[in-house]
Amino acid sequence: MRVLLLHGPNLNLLGTRQPEVYGAATLPELEDRCRAWAAGLGMEIETFQSNHEGALIDRLHGAIGTADAVVMNPGALAHTSYALHDAVLATGLRVIEVHLSDIGAREPWRATSVTAPACAAMISGHGAEGYRQALEILAGPG
Ligand code: DQA
Repeated sequence: MRVLLLHGPNLNLLGTRQPEVYGAATLPELEDRCRAWAAGLGMEIETFQSNHEGALIDRLHGAIGTADAVVMNPGALAHTSYALHDAVLATGLRVIEVHLSDIGAREPWRATSVTAPACAAMISGHGAEGYRQALEILAGPG
């Protein structure tokens, strides 16, 4: 199984960006952990991060026919982007949304994800562990 690991705006700054909220791991470290977890589940991972909504949508389109599933942390686009929601649906792929922090326990505007309803599941507030959980869901029955 080929899994696209997609990260949205500001997640390139993981490690230095509010580590008390998002943890101390950098994005490459998080991606390495995901790669190791994925390998243990017999999966291959491809990674992509962008601060630009359109680039993320283009990358999702590129996953059609080249990936079997997606793990996506859209960053703040989760709270605003109907275009990303539609792109998830357009792929026809199983997409799991992950948030490092608990979006339901922070500012009220973060509590709603407009992209999550397009996804097969949403995991929030489990830190890096949430990505492992997402990969395990994808490894399970569809
Ligand atoms: C985040 C939560 C979002 O609200 C925030 O804008 C992020 C990171 C998370 O992983 O907890 O950029 O997606």
